[in-house]
Amino acid sequence: MGIKIIEENKQFHLFNSKISYVLKVNSENEIEQLYFGNYINVEQVIENGQTMGIRPLCCNLKEDENFTKELALLEYPSFGSGDFKYPAYEILQENGSRISNLKYVSNSIYKGKKDIPGLPASYVNADSEADTLEIVCEDKAVGLEVTLYYTIWEDYPVVCRHARLKNIGNQKIEIERALSCNIDFPDNEYNWMHFEGAWGRERYPVERDVSTGITAIESMRGHSSANYNPFVIIKRKNTDEKNGEAFGVNLVYSGNFIAQCQADPYGKLRFSMGINPQWFKWELNANDIFDTPEVVISHTACGLNDLSNTIHRFMNNQMVRSTYKNKPRPILLNNWEATEMDFTEESILKIAKKGKEAGVELFVLDDGWFGKRNNDYAGLGDWFVNTNKLPEGIKGLSEKINDMGLKFGIWIEPEMVNEDSDLYRAHPDWILGDPNQPNTLGRHQMVLDYSKKEVVDNIFQQLYAIIVNANISYIKWDMNRSITECYSIGKEASQQGKIYHKYILGVYDLYERLRTAFPDILFESCASGGARFDAGMLYYAPQAWCSDDTDAVERIKIQYGTSYGYPISMVGSHVSASPNQQTGRNTDIRTRANVAYYGTFGYELDLNELSEEEFSEVKRQIEFMKEYREVFQYGRYYRLRSPFENNTAAWMVVSEDKNTAIVSVFKKYKTPNMGLERIKLQGLDAAKQYLVNDKRKAYGDYLMEYGVASMDSDELWFESDEDFSSKLYVLKAHVTK
Ligand code: DGJ
Repeated sequence: MGIKIIEENKQFHLFNSKISYVLKVNSENEIEQLYFGNYINVEQVIENGQTMGIRPLCCNLKEDENFTKELALLEYPSFGSGDFKYPAYEILQENGSRISNLKYVSNSIYKGKKDIPGLPASYVNADSEADTLEIVCEDKAVGLEVTLYYTIWEDYPVVCRHARLKNIGNQKIEIERALSCNIDFPDNEYNWMHFEGAWGRERYPVERDVSTGITAIESMRGHSSANYNPFVIIKRKNTDEKNGEAFGVNLVYSGNFIAQCQADPYGKLRFSMGINPQWFKWELNANDIFDTPEVVISHTACGLNDLSNTIHRFMNNQMVRSTYKNKPRPILLNNWEATEMDFTEESILKIAKKGKEAGVELFVLDDGWFGKRNNDYAGLGDWFVNTNKLPEGIKGLSEKINDMGLKFGIWIEPEMVNEDSDLYRAHPDWILGDPNQPNTLGRHQMVLDYSKKEVVDNIFQQLYAIIVNANISYIKWDMNRSITECYSIGKEASQQGKIYHKYILGVYDLYERLRTAFPDILFESCASGGARFDAGMLYYAPQAWCSDDTDAVERIKIQYGTSYGYPISMVGSHVSASPNQQTGRNTDIRTRANVAYYGTFGYELDLNELSEEEFSEVKRQIEFMKEYREVFQYGRYYRLRSPFENNTAAWMVVSEDKNTAIVSVFKKYKTPNMGLERIKLQGLDAAKQYLVNDKRKAYGDYLMEYGVASMDSDELWFESDEDFSSKLYVLKAHVTK
């Protein structure tokens, strides 16, 4: 790994054993991209053919008639001087001009990586893990300095980027657009994948040709959203799970975002991603700084499973900031689907006791323990215990749960307030809303104005008082509505364009304060399930409730889609009751667990209501998960068969040493008179012989090339012949050829 400079034409080569990213300062003193892809040995200057010779209707500056921005591959393009595509940044000056040209000023290279103030970002555990290049550019006429940051990693085919804008002049500048990255690809033979959905069906993969026009996804809901996830893949058209080139881009941000591809008439493709410029305006006075969020750009030449594995490892090692980083996650029991808000201390203790008997490690008390929270019309904002339900408080309950030998956790929704709350009665101006307009409600609640420090301070103090007095090991941080009427009461007009972003900065600030005050607490983020499932949240909360939809059949799709861009250790997944609360579907308890194992694992039901047979199955499942959770959560994960395209779906995990693998095959509907089906495994050691489910022996090469067959001798695919059945295969290596 390193960053080489060829002084002759100020060419920068960021490289590691797998990838190269080459940039140069061109004849106009602007930053151009020359190459991004598999490692290449760059000893000499690379010429960028596309900047040679301009065409009719292209515009150029007088100094170099052979150079036009329209044909160049630009690193951080501006508006107004011949590029004609969407710029990476846009600034409004006092004279009304938005025209700007950034010129190279200087660069520096150093070991390691700096934090981005106030924002989550990847980090090094030791400086030797990464090298960073900073390129400083300036527009003297505007008084704008832009620093482009690039970090290359020793152990991953990954480049991280972000930009810092600084006002170095005397006039006021308004930033109207400041994206995290721009990548100009020299050709447009790509498809992209994004991950879309809605409540209960989050992150379904969608693939599209981007070789013409504009392709974009975005959020304008104030959070990253269930509709479009801030993760995209740019791939060669024939790239599949096992072969081919692809780039994955994770935006480390939880608010409004945009990701866009724009094809141009010269066969080039511009990709850009960052904060959504819609309704964004950031005033920058003299010496003010604005940092964009970071993007993590991963590369593979070996298919999408390889890309995902890079992202999983990277996120686990370089993004998660928690004492639970790379640690097995506690098996939890959550009372939400069992009781909703209708519980007493006694009923909770009864559920927890049964959980302990089953082998659960952590009990989580969900919504309903605070203020006047008996339904969702009241209580949010009042973070003191409801003593009608819990006479001895959270402290008393936590002690009783701890005495059972269980850890204890609570649910909070700190960004929201109900009209019927002491907090709202005392501070009606602490919500986001325009006093001249009706206020839109979501789940009968309003959004607190986290752009105001006093609001974040108040919530921190309330939560601190609860947590410090009880033995709390886990917090589920929920967020159950999108932002509407994004207006900060009492703030000047010039500040209103900042509110969406400042809101998210306030959320990050509260996370940071709680995380610092209580470093041993495990946070799980949640937003009506998976409506804020992103790398920004992962920095603070190493796990995230993946979806409110706990139906095993639906979860196969949701977890399959999620696995493209996020590690399995992040995926909050529980076994819930059957029939399922969201879909009414009945599924076998074994199938429910076979899906939930590929995540943090837990239960979301009253175990007292299970039959004896089911309860002993639960005990077996918990024992099994305890034995294999490291493999499930931190092993290499492979998608084998897509639930979106087939009646059967399959995925697997393999331990780092390739000695253990666990494969799951799921079937939707029983179909009569089927032919032979085979699923080829991946990631095994070809030379090792594996014992499959303690019965059959097969070599890695056989299992990967021939595969597991649906009619293999004594190995039936499914435990039962019912709809929605599944089969788990545990493979253990025991002989090497
Ligand atoms: C939405 C969450 O996704 C659920 O798991 C649960 O915590 C409810 N909110 C509680 O209100």
